[in-house]
Amino acid sequence: MIAKTVSCALSGIDGVIVTIEADCCQGLPSVDIVGLPDTAVKESKERVRSAVNNSGFSFPQRKVVVNLAPAYIRKEGSFFDLPITIAILSSSGQLREDYTEGYIFIGELALDGSLRGVNGVLPMVIEAAKNGYTKAIVPEANAPEAAVVSDVEIYGAKTLSEAVAHLTGEAPIEQTRLNPEDLFNYADNLCGDYEDVKGQDIAKRALTVAAAGGHNVLMIGSPGSGKTMLAKRLPTIMPSLTFEESLEVTKIYSISGKLPEKAALITTRPFRDPHHTVSAVAITGGGANPKPGEICLAHKGVLFLDEFPEFRKDAIDAMRQPLEDGSFTVARANGVVTFPSDVMLVASMNPCKCGYYGDTSRECKCSAGDIQRYMHKISGPMLDRIDIHIQVPSVKYSELSVQKKTASSEDMKKAVDRARAIQAERYKDKHYSTNAGLDSKGLEEYCKLDKKSNELLTNVFENLGLSARAYTRILKVARTIADLDESENIEAKHIAEAIQYRTLDKKFWFN
Ligand SMILES: Nc1ncnc2c1ncn2[C@@H]1O[C@H](COP(=O)(O)OP(=O)(O)O)[C@@H](O)[C@H]1O
Ligand SMILES: [Mg+2]
Ligand SMILES: [Zn+2]
Repeated sequence: MIAKTVSCALSGIDGVIVTIEADCCQGLPSVDIVGLPDTAVKESKERVRSAVNNSGFSFPQRKVVVNLAPAYIRKEGSFFDLPITIAILSSSGQLREDYTEGYIFIGELALDGSLRGVNGVLPMVIEAAKNGYTKAIVPEANAPEAAVVSDVEIYGAKTLSEAVAHLTGEAPIEQTRLNPEDLFNYADNLCGDYEDVKGQDIAKRALTVAAAGGHNVLMIGSPGSGKTMLAKRLPTIMPSLTFEESLEVTKIYSISGKLPEKAALITTRPFRDPHHTVSAVAITGGGANPKPGEICLAHKGVLFLDEFPEFRKDAIDAMRQPLEDGSFTVARANGVVTFPSDVMLVASMNPCKCGYYGDTSRECKCSAGDIQRYMHKISGPMLDRIDIHIQVPSVKYSELSVQKKTASSEDMKKAVDRARAIQAERYKDKHYSTNAGLDSKGLEEYCKLDKKSNELLTNVFENLGLSARAYTRILKVARTIADLDESENIEAKHIAEAIQYRTLDKKFWFN
């Protein structure tokens, strides 16, 4: 008899419904799994056989054929163990098939019949809900993330026997319901507060501007000046994630197996800091069975490139398109997979090879040529995507030790939220939502300068020799500064501040 169960596969960051058919027919005892399974799925038969026998059922002494459909989707991983087992039990008359109606099944089995957690349960359950399934049996470890999807009843099982006893009604499992507090458990697990950063008022202001307008930032400073400390705290002042954004981010972490234990939803913006030796594929994601890369893991959050000039050229080049488009598409034999990559880029670097050019505490050992060569290691096209550059000077010991109150993340976030609300309203009919996204038409429309600010900008260009690419960057950043000021017009003082954030254009580095 043929019996069916339903499960889900993954494609990119989304689920795809998979139907599993099992047929126990006359013939020599054997098990065949067909329908583009990978090796983990093929090994499933050994796990399933042991799990069935060790859970008080008997594995059919017949020819067993298991078919995973649709066949064109590559089925990866071990999460089909449970649905395959349930289908075999139904097919061999050990479980009534109608008990499994409306359910989807996900889970890896251990030889003793216990259910192990797997990656990607959230996107699978989201897909199940879209396709009208109302109930899911998942490993207990994955129940919290699955329960985020309110349209599907989630039953977290510890073992195969528990799952079957639930289906027959012998021992129903209690439904996992999400306590709204659990959702926000992970909101306070952020990496510090700007209150911990002493001094650095200018850098903190620049980062407020960056977060407010969605501008990419480059920080230049000596080792130990606090660049990493400043960058890590950026997610604490960016606007809170909406529920939809949280779901999207959580899907990515679910698939990558990076969801913190018992976490249901990731509610804070990600911070990713790949090492400079990272490969192009590790940055963008990809491979035969494409997995999200660092830029996708940073989606809706911060991608921090520490020691920016040291990154591999191919990795930097690979980053350009996903940074520009906010998503990255990988071609596969049977179509394409798209990974979202809407990130704020924060790069940091030393001012020179030895690290101390311009530092007041230590002398720089580099020649002028050394310094320029070091700067030229950073890619021009990447630099073109960075609106704000700032110098981060070392804070003197005397300043570090004083108990002066400095701006906290909460204070800074309030300003950011106000400026974002203004932009959301102004750009409600546009394809962009922040000043960083302004196109040339938008620049013309929203960044008009009055006589005084125009004069100032012209003057600065003539006297400081700013590069042409600096011009639109200054306008965009000035627009954000005006929004922080709740000023409809860009005034001279806003332009003046924006010019401060073009360190690399003003210094001799690039001349
Ligand atoms: N402004 C500051 N306020 C408090 N501590 C600081 C400050 N700047 C640096 N530090 C201390 O110095 C350490 C090194 O800073 P870090 O951010 O790693 O520097 P960088 O990334 O620029 O090399 C930090 O962990 C912190 O303890
Ligand atoms: Mg650092
Ligand atoms: Zn130096």
